[in-house]
Amino acid sequence: MPAFITQPFDPDLQPPSLVPDYKSTVLRAPPRPLVVAKASLSELSGPVFGERHVGPLDHDLTRNSVCNGEPLGERIVVHGKVTDDHGHPIPQTLIEIWQANAAGRYVHKIDQHNAPLDPNFLGAGRVLTDAEGNYKFYTIKPGAYPWGNHPNAWRPNHIHFSLFGPNITTRLVTQMYFPGDPLLQYDPIFLGVPPNGRERLISQFDLSITEPNFALGYRFDFVLRGHYATPFETI
Ligand SMILES: [Fe+2]
Repeated sequence: MPAFITQPFDPDLQPPSLVPDYKSTVLRAPPRPLVVAKASLSELSGPVFGERHVGPLDHDLTRNSVCNGEPLGERIVVHGKVTDDHGHPIPQTLIEIWQANAAGRYVHKIDQHNAPLDPNFLGAGRVLTDAEGNYKFYTIKPGAYPWGNHPNAWRPNHIHFSLFGPNITTRLVTQMYFPGDPLLQYDPIFLGVPPNGRERLISQFDLSITEPNFALGYRFDFVLRGHYATPFETI
């Protein structure tokens, strides 16, 4: 059975569907208990993601959509490992990320924040974990941006992550934050995660993966199950 499917929901760690201070959950949270659908054979044995789905620059957001120069902002390396609850690496996990640019603006028609787009930065990338469960992205540190949740609401710097397991039904989504961000204490999405899980969503500055004269390094590991599981978005 794929590790992703068997992850039990731990209310001390995982965010609930309904977080009243996070306004959009009020409308989208299921009003009744979920019905667990048994996975079919085709879901468990369907196509898996592999090397052929990932291009050579897909992991490098500083280069994967350049138009007329390099993207603006602070270059960073985001590196980590995907493991199960026993520390065993999970290889061949497709990890996708999306994020705002250094000015806090997404390349998306819904994002009308009055901050500049960067013609050399798309803000999306993907990579497969290697045989030891490791992954690495090069990107630009995302900027904070305002959102309409409440007056003067600003999202902390963050990168969205999606992890696909062995098939399309085993997707987990979460957000990575940065250490020392003063906006974390005001963010209802971050605060919607139980206190026990919040630290697991904050990356660690790591001098050992910082690349001299190029980019600061941040470590962000994923644990898919158990007491140290990474909190994931439930809806
Ligand atoms: Fe975001």
